Amino acid sequence: MYNIYNSGRIQGVKINMTEYATLIIEGKEYKLPVICGSEGEKAIDIRSLRQQTGYITIDPGFANTGSCKSAITFMDGERGILRYRGIPIEQLAEHSSFVETAYLLIEGKLPTQTQLTRTSVYLNDFSLLHEDMRSFYQNFPSKAHPMGILSAMVNAMRSFYPEFSDEDREFNKTFLRLISKVRTMSAIAYKISRGHRPVYPRPDYSYCANFLHMMFDNPVIPYRLDRDFEQALNVFWILHADHEQNCSTATVRVVGSGRVNVYAAISAGISALWGPLHGGANQAVIKMLEQIRDDKLTIPQAIARAKDRNDPFRLMGFGHRVYKTYDPRAKIMKKMCDLVLSKKRCKDSLLDIAVELEQAGMADHYFQDKGLYPNVDFYAGIMLRAMGIPTNMFTVMFAIGRLPGWLAQWKENSTDPEQKISRPRQIYTGNNVMDYIPMDQRHA
Ligand code: SDX
Repeated sequence: MYNIYNSGRIQGVKINMTEYATLIIEGKEYKLPVICGSEGEKAIDIRSLRQQTGYITIDPGFANTGSCKSAITFMDGERGILRYRGIPIEQLAEHSSFVETAYLLIEGKLPTQTQLTRTSVYLNDFSLLHEDMRSFYQNFPSKAHPMGILSAMVNAMRSFYPEFSDEDREFNKTFLRLISKVRTMSAIAYKISRGHRPVYPRPDYSYCANFLHMMFDNPVIPYRLDRDFEQALNVFWILHADHEQNCSTATVRVVGSGRVNVYAAISAGISALWGPLHGGANQAVIKMLEQIRDDKLTIPQAIARAKDRNDPFRLMGFGHRVYKTYDPRAKIMKKMCDLVLSKKRCKDSLLDIAVELEQAGMADHYFQDKGLYPNVDFYAGIMLRAMGIPTNMFTVMFAIGRLPGWLAQWKENSTDPEQKISRPRQIYTGNNVMDYIPMDQRHA
């Protein structure tokens, strides 16, 4: 799904009153307003279409359909542009922190030093998890997927942490409590799955350092924080923080449109992200690279299989609904991947396969003609693996990063006067009217 990016600089969305789309149906003309966003994107406003014409539109997967106007993230898929609140992702990856980027997305502007410090204090204050919630983990099977655990735990948070009634004007404390605890809950899921005792957060550690500490510290081998790993994680989460109306964000908006609490909407977003075509792709990339290695596929064989429509094999980490050129996040992700591998002084045979696969894929006319390029997931898994994050936690890492974007989008949706409950139409293709058939007249 798409949105019309409107930076808010234009009061309301500019409807250029001379711009209309004229629709001719059965010889009759209908004029539909054209709206234009702050980056020149245009949309035909069809909200009166059915009432005027009796027709609806249909667009499986919403590839051509905008669900909203938004001032949060701007993407240009043809030019490979991604900006949060107008700031290019390359600059945020270079200069910002994940906590500062989260503030930018949610509050719409970069924080002052005082605001950033107070945000960090709140995140620290909220980093513990209610001991009664920790007992939930004992009842999940040891092999439970951490995405299922995270979705359940976030939904359960509403019972333990109802929204703050005295929301601070400058900070949404409910959001900050979610951002802080989602990190703690994820690390606990990992520790419990290893049969280890969960590790408490440290007050002297940053958001990212604390996550690594809670994941990897243990009584016999104290975790020695690597600042380059902390920086790589910062950048990883900045790159994943928002991405316009992707599947999981659209889910958060749809679920939120029924005016349900934010925890339930975020829990739905986590579930939507889980799929291998979406946030589960980083896990699927590793599985694909391991299959190429273990089946001793050559790169040409792998490329040929990916192009064969009768073969379910796909180049995971390649292709994107919006980017028809190189995903700007993938370039930065590759740099972080190289940084982590250089620190580990380890080589990863999967990285060698990935680099060859990327070169072969990008040189192949099939992928060029279809606009299929590496996306953010292509290198993410290799970096996470090098950091010691287990494969089944990769999508959880994506969810932690995407949470500020979901929250910003949920907030924008719930305060948009034009938004209603999401309720798409359909074209019915089933039986025409027929009578009930008594049991003794039915045939198998
Ligand atoms: C994310 O939306 C977002 O912004 C998502 C995301 C975010 O930050 O939220 O960026 C995160 O989800 C990134 C995408 C991760 N998924 C993958 O890497 C999985 C592999 N990619 C594909 O499944 C696919 O490219 C999608 C799902 C990403 C996009 O699919 P579309 O836009 O629905 O396109 P499509 O499936 O209709 O494919 C168009 C053509 C098809 O061939 P034809 O039917 O036209 O002959 O391209 C082919 C597809 O078969 N194709 C691929 C391919 N991806 C598409 N062929 C081989 N390998 C691939 N990876």
